[in-house]
This record gives sequence, C-alpha cells and structure tokens, in this order.
Amino acid sequence: MRFHSPIKSVLFTCFTLLFAITSNAQTPKVIKVNVDQSIAKVQPNMWGVFFEDINFGADGGIYAELIKNRSFEFAKPLMGWSISRNRSQEGEILVVNRKEENAANPRYLQVKKATDNFFELVNEGFKGIGVKKGMRYDFSVMYRQLQPGIKMVLLLKDPDKKVIGQGSFTPEGSGSEWKKQSASFVATETNAKAKFSILFQGKGNIDLDMISLFPGDTWKNRKQGLRADMVQLLADMKPGFIRFPGGCIVEGTDLANRYQWKNTIGPIEERKLLINRWNTEFAHRPAPDYYQTFGLGFFEYFQLAEDIGSDALPILNCGMACQFNTGEVAALDELDPYVQDALDLIEFANGDINTKWGKKRAELGHPKPFNLKMMGVGNENWGPQYLERLAIFTKVIKAKYPDFKLINSSGTDPEGDRFNLLNTSLRENKADFIDEHYYRPADWFLKNAGRYDNYPRNETKVFVGEYAVHADKKVIGSDRNNWQSALASASLMTGLERNADVVQMASYAPLFAHIDGWQWAPDMIWVDNLQSYGTPDYYVQKLFSTNKGTDVVSITLDEKNIIGQDGLFASSVLDKGKKELIIKIANNSDQNQNIDFDLNGKTKLKSKGTIDELASINLNQLNSFENPGAVSPKTSAINLKGKKLNATLKPFSFNVIKIPFN
Ligand code: AHR
Repeated sequence: MRFHSPIKSVLFTCFTLLFAITSNAQTPKVIKVNVDQSIAKVQPNMWGVFFEDINFGADGGIYAELIKNRSFEFAKPLMGWSISRNRSQEGEILVVNRKEENAANPRYLQVKKATDNFFELVNEGFKGIGVKKGMRYDFSVMYRQLQPGIKMVLLLKDPDKKVIGQGSFTPEGSGSEWKKQSASFVATETNAKAKFSILFQGKGNIDLDMISLFPGDTWKNRKQGLRADMVQLLADMKPGFIRFPGGCIVEGTDLANRYQWKNTIGPIEERKLLINRWNTEFAHRPAPDYYQTFGLGFFEYFQLAEDIGSDALPILNCGMACQFNTGEVAALDELDPYVQDALDLIEFANGDINTKWGKKRAELGHPKPFNLKMMGVGNENWGPQYLERLAIFTKVIKAKYPDFKLINSSGTDPEGDRFNLLNTSLRENKADFIDEHYYRPADWFLKNAGRYDNYPRNETKVFVGEYAVHADKKVIGSDRNNWQSALASASLMTGLERNADVVQMASYAPLFAHIDGWQWAPDMIWVDNLQSYGTPDYYVQKLFSTNKGTDVVSITLDEKNIIGQDGLFASSVLDKGKKELIIKIANNSDQNQNIDFDLNGKTKLKSKGTIDELASINLNQLNSFENPGAVSPKTSAINLKGKKLNATLKPFSFNVIKIPFN
C-alpha cells in the first residue's frame, strides 16, 4: 500500500511514538534489593506523632469538653456565654472573683433570682457544639446554694433554637461548701452547631463554677475524657511516640505564659488556665477565645501514649520564652525551678510510689510507672543563651539519670547560621538527639531526600521533630494537604528510613486542625465538631509507621541510592518479626514506571505479596469531610517470579510493597 506523503509522515510519527512508548514499557528499570543484608536497625519508635494545642487541637478538639470558658477564667469572664431573659434585674448575675482564696480558679458565677422570671444562660461551645442523635450527654457543675429554690433545665438547641436534647438538674442542700453534681440526658437530633443552655426556674441564690458537658462516647468511656474518633485515628497509625505538649506553647510568649506541667495535673478545677499562645500569634487569624484549660494535661498525655502503645516524649521549657515573641530568658542563677520541673517530671513518670511525685502519679490512678525514656529540653530555641541553659539541664539530669535521653533543639530551620552553631556545638557535646524542624516547599523535600546519606555516624542521633511540605500559597489546596505535599513528604521519608541509624525518630507537624478555628496549615488531620478525616499526609504517615520494619536493607538503581532518578525515591526494610520484606517507593513523575525488582539473597521469599498504592494524577487532590478517602491506600495482590517482581508504578504514586518470607 502506498501513502500520500502527509499521511505517511503522520503514520511514521505514530509508529515512532508507539515504539517509544512500548519499548519504554518493555524495558523496565531494574531496581536491586539486597534482602539478606541489614545495613541499619529501625528503632521500634521511629515514626511518631507531634501533638500541640494549636488549631483548637486540644481545647475545642481532642479534649471532648463541649462548654467554652466553663470556669469563667477567660480574660473576658463571660466570653462564650450569653444571657437570655425577659426582664433584667440588677445583681441577678455576677462574676465573683475570690483570688485570695482560690488562685488557680478564682472566678465563679453567682445567680440570684428574686422572681420566677425567664432566665437562661447560653453557651455557644467551641465553634458550636457537636450533638449526635441518641447520644448521652453528661452535664456536671460545681455549686453551692446560699438560698435553695432554683431548678435548672438543661437544653441543647439547634441554630433555629429548636430543642434537640433536654435534661434537668435539681441542686441539693445549702451552705458555703462547694459540691460537684452531674446529670445526663440524651439528644434527639444530630447537629454540628448546637448551643447549650441552662434555664433557671424558681427563686433562689446559687453559685456556679466548672459548668461542663461531655458526650457519652469518649475514648475508652473515660469520664470527661477525649474525643474517641480523633484518638482512634491516632491509634490506627500505631505511632512509636507521641511528642507533647508542643511546639511553641511550651515556650510561651513570655516566661509567665510558658507551659508548666505541674499546673496540668490533679482535679480539673485546680488546673490553672492559661491563654493559648496561638490566641494572639497571627493577626490575620485571630483566636480571642483560645485558652488552655489543661483538661488534657500531663497525666492524660501519658495515659494516651500508653493507650495507643506509644512512647511518651514530653518537651519542657528550658528557661526561655519564644524568641519570635519576647525572647525572655530566666537568669542563669534562677534556672533551678525549671530544671527541678524536669527532674520531678521524670520522678512523676517513673518514680516509685514512695517518692513525692511517684506518689502523686499513683494517687491519680496509675501506680505503675509510665516508663519515660526521653524528654526534650526546649522547643525551637537557639543561640548561645540556649546552649548555656541546656548545659545546666543536661548536667543535672544526666547526673541523676545517666541513661535518660535528652532531645536538644537546633532552632527553627534546618540550615543557616543558627542551625550550624547548634548542630556543631551539640555534636561536640555528644548530644543524644538533635531536633530538626523543616517546613519547606515540595521541591526542598525532594532535593533533601539524600540529606542524611552523608551525615556523621556517631552517638548523636537526629529527631526530625516537626516537618511538613508547605506548598506555594497560590496553589489550590496548599493549606489542606494536597497530594503533592504528601507525595513529597513520602519521598523524603524514604531518605529518613534509609538512614534509620542516624534519624531515629520523626514526626509530621502539626497534627490536628479544626476546620473553623485553625491558625496554622497544613495539618495532618482535620476535624469539625462531629467528624474527622485524615489527609493524604495522614495516609503517608500511617503507611510508614505501620510498615516500619526492623532492619534497613539496601535498594538501588544502577548501584546508587534511589533519590530522584526519573522521579523515583525508595527505601526498603525487613520486618524480622512479621517476616516481611517491605519496599517503599514513590514515583514523582507523570508517567507510569515499569520496574523489575531484583530481590537478591538467600531469604526465602514467598511468591505472593501485596502492594498498597496511594495515587492521584491530580497533585492538587485533597481529602475532605465529603470525600475522606479521595487519596487513600488501595491494596492489591502481586506475584513474584522466582526472585523477580515486576510492577508498574502509577504516575504520582507512593507504593508500599510487602512480600512475606519463611
Ligand atoms: O507546628 C507548628 C509550630 O511550628 C510549632 O509550634 C513550632 O515548634 C514550629 O514553629
């Protein structure tokens, strides 16, 4: 057959293209995995989570309290509350301050009713109150009746003021002693933006404090506990550690507003509230109603870590306030109370029940030690002033607990003069761990996947304590963890895993954000008042932490580490306990990649395995409340031929291949 010349040339081009495509498909890249040879151990706690009360992560988030400003201690004592009545009477409601008598919780509310007029106290909750149909709600209050006679009707109302739950509460007795009493009722409808109100009936005089409402489905059904859906998302990740309570809130804007763990344990009405540092931090995202009530305090953090099988990793203030704020430092000769807090915390976590702080732990219901192994001294502190203070902490703590590991700060950035000063000095001082933080564009993550390949192999290990891809703000979804960010994180994480002898712990940050109240984004998990979902980053983190393995084995392309060749990034581990070879490989290119994995060694691999695939051709793809699994792992079976495995990696995909062995 003869073709006219234009047709000929079109056909020629088509054949050439087809040949190029098929020949590309027919010539797979050969990636070699050396299955038998362990090149590094993976720490059992390698992949953890970073928790900070930012973005309404604790109050208004995982701490399931539904009432905002329950103890009237916000700067504006009635913030979150409003009053509804048909006739106002002077002195009917008073905020009373008794700070001489009760410095931790000075204010309470006095309600005096001389007539049986309509009088209702309404709480708006944190961005509304999430109410679920059929759920039990547990109300509690501290009160004293100076003149009995008031009965309280407890109401949940939807935004149209329709009652969607109702209970009642009759105070008992009279006198000057405070009592705590509770009452429960069931909601009749679901609504994410309900309000709670107390309708006061009758006449009398009553003082009220700690007005509280919790859902009946808290984590492990603990009274006044945590939101179960949020904890479950964490538990599902099986994190190796949980770092808490931050973040910058450890430092505080000034020393008076630093996080002090001793103020966060014991009866909740004695935990002195603090303004949340994120309340005022960003003028463009003000959060005037953001406070720390410490209902989630240090005991609860330890308990949470224990519940989900994670090591606890507390970070303590080192005598320095946030250097982006006041930069206030404690005088060196006045550092003792700060150091003592660290020593006491170790005793609180691990001490015998006959010690002062071990006894307190036992009194709180946990006689067994929490087995704390490490703590951070300072968050993102830097400069010679940090080194001076850290030296004092280190000397004292190591003298008493020589094997206890200390995490040291390297400041806010993973490079530059501040980083270099600390990195050099801390290594000279044989620091246990240096905490590196990076919030950088996707590009930086890809370029830095080999960052640790040439790091010093000595006693100082790296803790990547905070990291996240911060995409260009102009990119749609950059604030909500799009797939591009998560894929770049996954790519860098293969470099952390390959260097597990150096990088021994890592945690994405921050963890939680409330969709109506965030200050910082992106974040790993987004919540509203009723629901929560994991972002693509959540699934990347989960794939790493649930497939961490025990031993790193080498994986190479043309005898080189796989750090970006044709957009590929890879690492491989053996799990000697589960008896699995695990290959993690990210494809950052927009093409399918056909790979022959050459699995060398004597280890007897089985012929069938699985591949968990996270993929989207749309790099701007997000997960959402409506579509929480838009980017989530899909698992399929794979077959080996002898010691060879062929797989086609989708464009823009992250893949976890698992092959069992005998
Ligand atoms: O993760 C958010 C903030 O980022 C942390 O509080 C701080 O340590 C870092 O600057």
